[in-house]
Amino acid sequence: MTITGRTRLCAVIGDPVEHSLSPCIHNAAFKHLGLDYVYVAFRVRYEELEWAIRGVRSLGIHGLNVTMPHKIGVIRYLDRLDPEAELLGAVNTILNDDGALVGYNTDGRGALKALLEVDGDLKAKKVLIIGAGGASRALSFTLAPRVRELTILNRTYGRAKTLAEDLKKKVEGTVRACRLSDETLKEELENSDVVINATPVGMRPNEDETPIPKELLRPGLTVFDLVYNPIETRLLKEAKAAGAKTIDGLTMLVYQGAASFELWTGVEAPVEVMMDAAKRELRRRGIIL
Ligand SMILES: NC(=O)c1ccc[n+]([C@@H]2O[C@H](COP(=O)([O-])OP(=O)(O)OC[C@H]3O[C@@H](n4cnc5c(N)ncnc54)[C@H](OP(=O)(O)O)[C@@H]3O)[C@@H](O)[C@H]2O)c1
Repeated sequence: MTITGRTRLCAVIGDPVEHSLSPCIHNAAFKHLGLDYVYVAFRVRYEELEWAIRGVRSLGIHGLNVTMPHKIGVIRYLDRLDPEAELLGAVNTILNDDGALVGYNTDGRGALKALLEVDGDLKAKKVLIIGAGGASRALSFTLAPRVRELTILNRTYGRAKTLAEDLKKKVEGTVRACRLSDETLKEELENSDVVINATPVGMRPNEDETPIPKELLRPGLTVFDLVYNPIETRLLKEAKAAGAKTIDGLTMLVYQGAASFELWTGVEAPVEVMMDAAKRELRRRGIIL
């Protein structure tokens, strides 16, 4: 790749950020399509966010991904939000539109695309999300209006309740909140078509853990695990063995990245290339074999 005076710069900002797969994923896609773009990672401390965003304006950086801890805080420095980011109150993508910084959130879109590939018709489905943090929030806002019923099950009931109340105020759809316990998990799973793990349970170094006992898994259920380290979590292995359909977290990660890529370039993202780049990098890091 030749970097010239015309090369457009995209970046991810966060803290920490060194572990991000986004530089590998996006640079592989730019190279594949011969686009004159380059993507880097900047560690931006919480208290330096405002200066970083001023820098984006003054340097004419074209696009940003925003990760923890800046997804909410960055909003006050932007010029506009797209309706999805506005609803969610969180931004993971910024487009520098001729000097105006516009905030988007592609997490829900990425998850929806991954789900639709496996479960074409969501309208009639009952969906259960375990967890009520940032990822659950992004998915809930996208899914609630598109499914028959959405239940949020969380260890801390108050968080699930607050999220459900926010959803009811802002989007269409039937939403319930429940406290996570062995009993509620069993009961809710019996009535669900899709279950999504939006907790870190099962993530390395705790890959022996699972949020759902294998006895509760069955054919006819779709199991979506947002954890992508490892890619095939214990939950996904046991779900496959039980005859359930599965979706891994890397698929969502790549799809939300593809949605950001399309916002910056206006070109359809080469999803296969991005997925291969992510897997190659995870292999290089010894995370997958
Ligand atoms: N694949 C992707 O593209 C993608 C994107 C975003 C996130 N993720 C993954 O999704 C997971 C959640 O991320 P997040 O940003 O939503 O995190 P977060 O905001 O910190 O929320 C974590 C959620 O998990 C629950 N939780 C944590 N430990 C638990 C345990 N031992 N048992 C039961 N519940 C537990 C928390 O419950 P309490 O409220 O009770 O604390 C909370 O609801 C992470 O593994 C992250 O890597 C993947």
